[in-house]
Amino acid sequence: MKKFKVKVPATTANLGPGFDCLGLALQMYNEFAFEQSEKFEFVNFQDKYANENNLVVKSAKHVYQSKKVPVIPFKVKIKEGVPTSRGLGSSATCVVAGVLAANYFMESNLTEKEIIQYCTELEGHPDNIAPAIMGSLVSSVVSDEIICVKHDISPELFFVVAVPDFTLSTKQARGALPKKLSYSKAIHNMARAINIPHALATGNLDMLFTLLDDKMHEPFRMPLIEDSVKFKNFSLRTRTPFCISGSGSTLLFITKEPDLLIKELKRVPVIKTWRFTALVPDTTGAVAKEIKR
Ligand code: HSE
Repeated sequence: MKKFKVKVPATTANLGPGFDCLGLALQMYNEFAFEQSEKFEFVNFQDKYANENNLVVKSAKHVYQSKKVPVIPFKVKIKEGVPTSRGLGSSATCVVAGVLAANYFMESNLTEKEIIQYCTELEGHPDNIAPAIMGSLVSSVVSDEIICVKHDISPELFFVVAVPDFTLSTKQARGALPKKLSYSKAIHNMARAINIPHALATGNLDMLFTLLDDKMHEPFRMPLIEDSVKFKNFSLRTRTPFCISGSGSTLLFITKEPDLLIKELKRVPVIKTWRFTALVPDTTGAVAKEIKR
């Protein structure tokens, strides 16, 4: 029986104003082990995901169908390190794993670009997908052909994620967005987003504090995330770069002194339970391996 495993990093999308086009891979992982089987089987998945609507299976089927290859079922076991529905790209890890599994089982040789293309068709936007596959910070453009550019991050930077005990679905968070945006807000975001790769590469926290300010999605999502205003006020008071991670509910802070920052964050008077973790970027992206006996 053919066996295969994939390790996919968590990702933090948007980085404030880079809505749907900027994302960063972090050293926090979901691991998937695959084995060819008579039917689709699920091990260690939460009950609601242990069926054929499972994103790993849906993603693999999408590739089989577009390549006109008969469906090859598998057993998939997950080792979950990325919390679900928290804005840390857990669904992107499943999509990437499913597409890579199909690539393996049908003995195809999809290029990185084709893999990103398939995954983006499934996710709808490339901002989690591209860094989950390529690692590091990736800026993406969706056109006839997808363009993904990988950027270096200063080794001095730490990404502190504040993960709450409540979820927020991307569907609900996207549903909160207005249909239209003014020129002045578009310019506000564009001007900031294009400079984020430079500020992250040089570790310029002061610049990042200014650049992460978003007018496209965060003002409409903050009310959906209890306590977020208190953390935003903390960020304004201390000039700590801050944004919502992806569509939330996780919040992201960038610092060079993670222990000190976490100590301060623990003092913010909140209602919900928050877990703070200092992470560094993953620079390699998804790693796939055949298991030979
Ligand atoms: N860019 C997406 C959003 C990320 O903010 O809705 C979540 O998948």
